[in-house]
Amino acid sequence: MLFYFLLLPVALALAPDGPWDVFNYAPKSKTVYARDIYKSVGSVSGARNLVGNTGSVILSPSPWITLDFGIEVGGLVSLNFDKVDDTSSVSLAFTESPAYVNPLASDDSAYPTPNMNYDGVFTIPAPLSKGHWTQPSYSLRGGFRYLTIASHSNTTLQLSNVSCAISFMPHVDDLRAYTGYFYTSDPVFHDPDLLTKVWYAGAYTVQTNTVPLDTDRQFPFRFASTGWFNNGTIGVVGPILIDGAKRDRTVWPGDLAISVSTQFVSTFDLVPTRNAVSTMFAAMDPETGALPQAGPPLTLYRPDSDTYQAWNLIGTHNYYIYSGDHDWLSTVWTNYTRAVAFLEGKVDSTGLMNVTALSDWARQGGGGYNAEGNAILYKVLLTASDLAKYMGDESLFAAWRANATALKVKYNEAFWVESAGMYRDNLTTTLCPQDANSFAVLYNLTLSDDQKVAVSEGLEKNWNDLEPVVPELPDTISPYISGFELQAHFEAGQDNRALDLLRREWGYMLYKNLSVQSILLEGFMANGSLGYQSSRGYNYDPSYTSHAHGGSSGPTSAPTFYILGLTVTSPRGATWSVNPHINGGLPSAEGGFETSLGWFGVRWVLQNNQFFTEINTPEGTSGLVKLMRVGTVVVDEVAVKVVANGEITLNGGKHCIAIFS
Ligand SMILES: *[C@@H]1O[C@H](CO)[C@@H](O)[C@H](O)[C@H]1NC(C)=O
Ligand SMILES: *[C@@H]1O[C@H](CO)[C@@H](O)[C@H](O)[C@H]1NC(C)=O
Ligand SMILES: *[C@@H]1O[C@H](CO)[C@@H](O)[C@H](O)[C@H]1NC(C)=O
Ligand SMILES: *[C@@H]1O[C@H](CO)[C@@H](O)[C@H](O)[C@H]1NC(C)=O
Ligand SMILES: *[C@@H]1O[C@H](CO)[C@@H](O)[C@H](O)[C@H]1NC(C)=O
Ligand SMILES: *[C@@H]1O[C@H](CO)[C@@H](O)[C@H](O)[C@H]1NC(C)=O
Ligand SMILES: *[C@@H]1O[C@H](CO)[C@@H](O)[C@H](O)[C@H]1NC(C)=O
Ligand SMILES: *[C@@H]1O[C@H](CO)[C@@H](O)[C@H](O)[C@H]1NC(C)=O
Ligand SMILES: *[C@@H]1O[C@H](CO)[C@@H](O)[C@H](O)[C@H]1NC(C)=O
Ligand SMILES: *[C@@H]1O[C@H](CO)[C@@H](O)[C@H](O)[C@H]1NC(C)=O
Repeated sequence: MLFYFLLLPVALALAPDGPWDVFNYAPKSKTVYARDIYKSVGSVSGARNLVGNTGSVILSPSPWITLDFGIEVGGLVSLNFDKVDDTSSVSLAFTESPAYVNPLASDDSAYPTPNMNYDGVFTIPAPLSKGHWTQPSYSLRGGFRYLTIASHSNTTLQLSNVSCAISFMPHVDDLRAYTGYFYTSDPVFHDPDLLTKVWYAGAYTVQTNTVPLDTDRQFPFRFASTGWFNNGTIGVVGPILIDGAKRDRTVWPGDLAISVSTQFVSTFDLVPTRNAVSTMFAAMDPETGALPQAGPPLTLYRPDSDTYQAWNLIGTHNYYIYSGDHDWLSTVWTNYTRAVAFLEGKVDSTGLMNVTALSDWARQGGGGYNAEGNAILYKVLLTASDLAKYMGDESLFAAWRANATALKVKYNEAFWVESAGMYRDNLTTTLCPQDANSFAVLYNLTLSDDQKVAVSEGLEKNWNDLEPVVPELPDTISPYISGFELQAHFEAGQDNRALDLLRREWGYMLYKNLSVQSILLEGFMANGSLGYQSSRGYNYDPSYTSHAHGGSSGPTSAPTFYILGLTVTSPRGATWSVNPHINGGLPSAEGGFETSLGWFGVRWVLQNNQFFTEINTPEGTSGLVKLMRVGTVVVDEVAVKVVANGEITLNGGKHCIAIFS
């Protein structure tokens, strides 16, 4: 048995090849053609010639066809007009979800309206010219799967060579060149590959959110009362990480706690995150240290969101720990410390932060002495203290750490409700929110393991048949906040509950026919329908929902960090930890990631009560392995004494550990 484990993945710049590669959604070429014809209405001949570009299609007169690219794509469409006349025009309509396939309208991206017709179509006006045509760059469509081409002609129109030039990941030629991978087979779900597929769907979602600098959505009202313009400037430097492919195409710090970890474990493409965080620091209010709620064009709103100010600081820490980019940290350090001080200035004599800038992830409430805001502040103080250590500032290291410790005490006094076994939203409510309770467990605001388990059980009470319904945003499912809940269940040692959540919520998103089935959407209603945030800014326009939101990719890093249990505990993984969560019913799992120090990989198998794991980390690093099983422990074929707390320290290199119960 042990010999099987000696077949280790070789240290490479890219993840090893394997059966997981078929789940990588990224296309092989950056020029993509339709994979199928979704619909064809009217007199159309040769439609299938557009699949894979084998010939031309003849449309006569006034018909339409819908091309299916098979996955989320985004960029500029081009095509060849082979036969035209002087009067005909052609319109292009785009949509992510098949629910909005329509020759007269795209799904909305510029602005939400209840009749779902703000964006409309892109018209190529008469007279058409024979030959190759490319969509003008201002009308770039950031995310779609379906393209509907309608001919407005009384004669015949012949066209061919319809493709999309992918605009995301502009700095990368091979979109499939991942540095990390994850693979498991789930015996419980109807599709054993679900977890692997979701891991890759999250990775691809973040790729579609990594874009050129000059493709920002223009403010809706500036140009026109209809249509869309994606030619604004997103930040200070590109390529840059944004919130969503179709929209908003804006830097949203709230997503950084999830999407940066997705990048880390899948592509190690961290510069777009650095560019996003730099954009936020550059927009700091010089008087107060307040950051805007989001990147351009929303930098006007400042201060507007205390929680997004905090997420930007947590995103800074994530970027630094994964990259070890000390030069960059030094350049933003002054603004970083001022931004922490801005939040600390809101902590009053009660020892809690009084949240006054209320923009947030669409949740209701959130003001005053609020549990969500204070949980995020706690994480800010811990990570700020960690960064102060690497910057050699011992006094800030100590002061921030001491303030974190004090905040944790106050937090439990103020918000813990013993009878509920959960934390309440603020001092005047009995509502126990999904966000604060997930953060409290994940960021260790809890004082005991029992408290973690109680919160995990309490969170499950919000689940309906599909997934968790958000108490602080009624009738809504938020895959963004659920990504934190997922991690919280693992932290509480509730591996079964974590996997159950993953299968329900992300399984629904990946298989439901309303979705794009290759990427992860920002949210939906409790009954599974589209219409996220209908009453919170999205004007009852379900077509406005973004189907490719990196903040929903929690189940890309969570399998790596928890199922494999592989995490870095200092910059670039100079120190690391392996703590596999093996109690969720999976028989085996494998995967890993790369940093600039090299390859980090874990494989484990649980069989007949025997646990085998193989750990491969760069020479010169060291790590701590935590074992969740008791029994005879064999490390590299040598029996070792029972170790204190089930922990073993290892140096980098290849190691095999077996536990016989
Ligand atoms: C999805 O499936 C349901 C039930 O089979 C069907 O009624 C609906 O039209 C389908 N929606 C789309 C967009 O295909
Ligand atoms: C097509 O014919 C109809 C009826 O004759 C006419 O109203 C329309 O303008 C024509 N369309 C084009 C694009 O020539
Ligand atoms: C077909 O479209 C591709 C992508 O835009 C372009 O490179 C190629 O030149 C076109 N082919 C012809 C024959 O025009
Ligand atoms: C975006 O494109 C429109 C239409 O061509 C143009 O009027 C506008 O000036 C462009 N905006 C920017 C910021 O380039
Ligand atoms: C820091 O913030 C100031 C405004 O307070 C801004 O002018 C400057 O560019 C920022 N520096 C960095 C490195 O982002
Ligand atoms: C929080 O701060 C705001 C603005 O300064 C103030 O109006 C409010 O009374 C404060 N809340 C509490 C609970 O002190
Ligand atoms: C306190 O929490 C409740 C429940 O989330 C919310 O309705 C209320 O607005 C919150 N109070 C403040 C000041 O935000
Ligand atoms: C720590 O908290 C105290 C009390 O709220 C505050 O005065 C001090 O500025 C904080 N220290 C830092 C470094 O933020
Ligand atoms: C979490 O907090 C508890 C005490 O409240 C502490 O004993 C434990 O070490 C903390 N865990 C981590 C990982 O920091
Ligand atoms: C699903 O919920 C939404 C929002 O509450 C509602 O508008 C819609 O009618 C519901 N759909 C079904 C099929 O019940």
